Amino acid sequence: MASTPVLNLMLSIFLILTSIIIFPSFSCPIHQKHALLDFKSTLTAIYNSTQYVELDSWNPASDCCYWRRVNCSGTGSVTKLQLSGVAIPPIDSVLISSEILSPIFRIRSLELLDISWNYLIGEIPRDGFGNLTKLLHLDMGVNNFNGSIPNQLFQLTNLRYLDMTANNLEGKLGPELGSFRKLTTLRLSYNGFQGPIPAQLFELESLRDLYLSGNNLGGHLSPEIGKLRNLESLVLDQVNFFRGKIPEEIGNLTKLRYLSLQDNSFSGGIPSSIANLTKLESLDLSVNSLSLEIPTFIGRLTNLTSVHLLSNQLTGPIPSSMQNMSKLESLYLDDNMLDGEIPTWLFKIRTLTELEIGGKGSKLIWNNTTKVVPRCSLIRISMCSCGISGQIPEWISSLKDLGLIPKSISNITGLVLLDLSRNRFSGDNLPVLKARDNFFLDLSDNDFSGKIPMNFPEGTEMLYIGGNKFSGSLPSNLTKLVNLIVLDLRNNIITGNLEDILHHFPTSLEILVLRNTSLNGFIPTNISMCSSLRILDLSRNNLTGSIPRQMANLPMMNMSASSTRISHFIGTLNADTLQNLIVNWKSSSQRLRNLRFFVLLDLSGNNISGEIPASLGNLKALKQLNISHNKISGNIPQSFGNLEGIESLDVSHNELSGSIPQSLDQLGQLSVLDVSYNMLTGKIPRGGQMDTMNELKYFQNNSGLCGMQIKIECPEDIPSSKGRVEEEEDLSRIFWQGTWIGFPIGFFSTILIMSYLLNFIQLFKF
Ligand SMILES: *[C@@H]1O[C@H](CO)[C@@H](O)[C@H](O)[C@H]1NC(C)=O
Ligand SMILES: *[C@@H]1O[C@H](CO)[C@@H](O)[C@H](O)[C@H]1NC(C)=O
Ligand SMILES: *[C@@H]1O[C@H](CO)[C@@H](O)[C@H](O)[C@H]1NC(C)=O
Ligand SMILES: *[C@@H]1O[C@H](CO)[C@@H](O)[C@H](O)[C@H]1NC(C)=O
Ligand SMILES: *[C@@H]1O[C@H](CO)[C@@H](O)[C@H](O)[C@H]1NC(C)=O
Ligand SMILES: *[C@@H]1O[C@H](CO)[C@@H](O)[C@H](O)[C@H]1NC(C)=O
Ligand SMILES: *[C@@H]1O[C@H](CO)[C@@H](O)[C@H](O)[C@H]1NC(C)=O
Ligand SMILES: *[C@@H]1O[C@H](CO)[C@@H](O)[C@H](O)[C@H]1NC(C)=O
Ligand SMILES: *[C@@H]1O[C@H](CO)[C@@H](O)[C@H](O)[C@H]1NC(C)=O
Repeated sequence: MASTPVLNLMLSIFLILTSIIIFPSFSCPIHQKHALLDFKSTLTAIYNSTQYVELDSWNPASDCCYWRRVNCSGTGSVTKLQLSGVAIPPIDSVLISSEILSPIFRIRSLELLDISWNYLIGEIPRDGFGNLTKLLHLDMGVNNFNGSIPNQLFQLTNLRYLDMTANNLEGKLGPELGSFRKLTTLRLSYNGFQGPIPAQLFELESLRDLYLSGNNLGGHLSPEIGKLRNLESLVLDQVNFFRGKIPEEIGNLTKLRYLSLQDNSFSGGIPSSIANLTKLESLDLSVNSLSLEIPTFIGRLTNLTSVHLLSNQLTGPIPSSMQNMSKLESLYLDDNMLDGEIPTWLFKIRTLTELEIGGKGSKLIWNNTTKVVPRCSLIRISMCSCGISGQIPEWISSLKDLGLIPKSISNITGLVLLDLSRNRFSGDNLPVLKARDNFFLDLSDNDFSGKIPMNFPEGTEMLYIGGNKFSGSLPSNLTKLVNLIVLDLRNNIITGNLEDILHHFPTSLEILVLRNTSLNGFIPTNISMCSSLRILDLSRNNLTGSIPRQMANLPMMNMSASSTRISHFIGTLNADTLQNLIVNWKSSSQRLRNLRFFVLLDLSGNNISGEIPASLGNLKALKQLNISHNKISGNIPQSFGNLEGIESLDVSHNELSGSIPQSLDQLGQLSVLDVSYNMLTGKIPRGGQMDTMNELKYFQNNSGLCGMQIKIECPEDIPSSKGRVEEEEDLSRIFWQGTWIGFPIGFFSTILIMSYLLNFIQLFKF
C-alpha cells in the first residue's frame, strides 16, 4: 500500500506534464491575468458588485484564455480584448473615468482592443496606448473621450483599424496621421475635429474606409484625394464644411463603392470623372450647392442602388440613361430645379423602393396621357406636389398595394437594428430576418395586418409593433424570446383574457405596452411572475375586477429608485436613443427619452372596480401611477405617502371618497396630482410638494374639497390676517423650489442618436 502515494504523485506529475505538452497554448500569463482582474475589480467597485454581471466569467481560478471577451495567441499571451459595452454607467450621473483602462495597458501583447460603447470620460490616456505597440485594431468608438488625440497614439504604427467615432475629441487633424502607414480603416466621425484634411492623410495608400462625418472639417477637398486608390468608402458628410468643386481626381478612386459628401457646401457640376466609378453602389451628394444638369453618364454606373442628390441646384431633365440602373432602389431628387416630364420608366425599374421627386424649385410635370403599368416595388414615394405640375395620374394609386417589406431583406445577415416605423408597409407576413443578439425591430405605425408574426429572430431584445392592424392571439412561442426587454403592442387587437395570456410573455420583459389592444379579463394575482417589469401599460382596455394586492410584488417597481437594475445590454440604450416608446406621461402622450429611468404603471381607462389595495404604496420606484377612468371606490390609501419616487399620480374619474391623505406631503418628487371627478371631500393637505398642487382642473368635480390650492377656504381654517401674509410668503418660496424639481435628462442621447444613425446607415449601405 505504501506505493500508492508515490504512484499518485507520479500520476499527477504525468498529468501535469501531458497537460502542459498537449495544451501549451492555453496558459494565460499570470501578470496578464492580474491586469485583467484589476480591471474587473475597479469596474465592480463602481457598480454595486452584486449587480455587475458582464465579466462574470473572469474567474481568478480559471485560465484567462478561456474567459469571455479574451483571446490568446498560440503561445498563450492575451492578444484580443473585446470590452465593448462592459462599463455602461449605472446611472447617468455616475461617469466612468478613462483611468479604469490603466491595467489594460500592462498587456503589451494586445493586437486587438475594443473599448467601444463604454461612455468613458476624460482624455485618452497618454502613456497607456503608446506601450501597446503590437496593436493592429483599436476601437474606441462611442465614449466621451475629450481633448485631442495624444501624440503617443501615433506610435502605434502597426494599426490597421482605428475607430474613434462619436467622442468629444477636438483639435486639428495633424501631419502625425501620416504615421499610420498601414491603416486600412479610419473612422473619426462625430467628433469636433477642425480644419482641413492634412496632406499626410492622402499618403495612407492602404486606406479602404475613411469616415470623417459630423466634424467641423472644411476647406477645399484636395485633388490629392485621388491618391487613395484603394478607397472603397469615402464619407465626408454631415456638418463638415467642405466647399468649392468636387475634384475631378475623385474619378481615380475606381474601387469606391460608397461615396457620401452630403451636407457640405460643394458647388459646381457633378464631375464627369465620376463615370469611372463603376463599382459605386451608393452615391450621396445631397444638401450641397451643386448646379448644372445631372450628367447623362451617370447611367453607366449600373451598380448603383442608391442615388441621393436632393437639395442642390441641379437643372435639366432626369437623364433617361438612368433607366439602365437596373439595381436602383432609392432615388432622391427632390428640392432641385429639375424640369421636364416625370419619366414613366422610373416606375418600371423593378428594384425601386423609394422615390422622392418634386419639392422646392422643381418644375417637373406629370404626363397624364401615357398609361403606365408600374412594375417597381415602391414602398415609399414622396412627390411633394408643390413642385410638380399636372394631375397626379390615376395609375399611381395602384402603387399603394406594393408596400411589402422587400423579401431581399432576408439576405442581410447579422441585422442589428431594423427600423421601418411610421411608413406604410403592409402585408401579413414578416420575411425571415437574420439578426444578431440584441436585435432591435421597430415596425410601429404601419399598415401590417393579419396575425401577430411568430418568426421574430431569437435574439430580439426590442420589439415595437404597435400602431398596426395586427389581430388575434399572442404567438405561443413568444416566451422563446428570452432576451426580450421591450414589447410594444399598442393599438392592435389582441384576443384573449389578460389572465390567460400572461404566461406568454417572457420573464425578461422590462417594458410591456398593451394600451388599447381590446384586452379582456382581469389583472391576475400572479402578475408578479413578470418579475422584470418596470413599465406596464394596460390602459384603454376592457379589464374588469379589482387591482390585486399582489400587484405590489412586482420587484422592479418596489425597489427604491436608486437600486433599479442596471441594464447591461447595449440594446437598452437603443431604446433610449430611438425614443419610440409612447406613453402617457404627466398628462400628455409622449415619446420617452432615457427609458432606463422610467418606472410606470398605467391601468387607466378600464372597468376596474373595488378598492385601491394599500400594498400599492410599496411600489417605491414608481414614477407615475395612473388608475384614472375606472370605477374604483373607497379611499386613497394613506400608504401612498410611501411612493417615494412618484412624480405623477392620477386617480381621477373614479368613485373615490373620503379625504386626500395628509401623507401625500411626503412625496418630494410629486409634480402632477389629479384627483378630479371623484367624490372626495375635506381639506387638501398642505406641506411639501402639496403646496404647489394648485391646478384647479385636477381637483374639480369632487364632493367638497377645500384648501388654499384651489382658493376655497376650509371651514376649520379661520386664519388671522398676520398668519395669512406669512403663509403666502412661504408659498411663493416653495413655488420657486418646485420649478427646479424635475427629471434630469440624460446627456448621452445626442451621441447615441448619432452613433445609432451611423449603425443604421451602415446596415443599409453595405
Ligand atoms: C509604458 O512603458 C514605459 C516604459 O517601459 C513605462 O515607464 C510606463 O509606465 C508604461 N506605461 C503604462 C501606462 O504602462
Ligand atoms: C475632459 O473632461 C474632463 C472630465 O469631464 C475634464 O475634467 C477635462 O477638463 C476635460 N478636458 C478637456 C481637454 O476638455
Ligand atoms: C489620376 O489618374 C490619372 C490617370 O491615371 C493620373 O494621371 C493622375 O495623376 C491621377 N491623379 C491622382 C491625384 O492620383
Ligand atoms: C459592378 O461591380 C462589379 C464588382 O464590384 C464589377 O465587376 C462590375 O464591372 C461593375 N459593373 C459595371 C457595369 O461596371
Ligand atoms: C443603356 O445601356 C445600353 C448598353 O450599354 C446602351 O446601348 C443604351 O444606350 C443605354 N440606354 C440609355 C437610355 O442610355
Ligand atoms: C416560433 O414559431 C414559428 C413558427 O412555428 C417559427 O418560425 C419561429 O422560428 C419560432 N420562433 C422562436 C423564437 O422559436
Ligand atoms: C385604438 O386602436 C385602434 C386600432 O385598433 C385605433 O383605430 C384607435 O385610434 C386607437 N385609439 C387611440 C385612442 O389611440
Ligand atoms: C392617465 O390616463 C388617462 C387615460 O389614459 C390620460 O388621459 C391621462 O392623461 C393620464 N394621466 C396622466 C397624469 O398622464
Ligand atoms: C363638473 O363640474 C362642472 C362645474 O362645476 C359641472 O358643470 C359639471 O356638471 C360637473 N360634471 C360632473 C360629471 O359632475
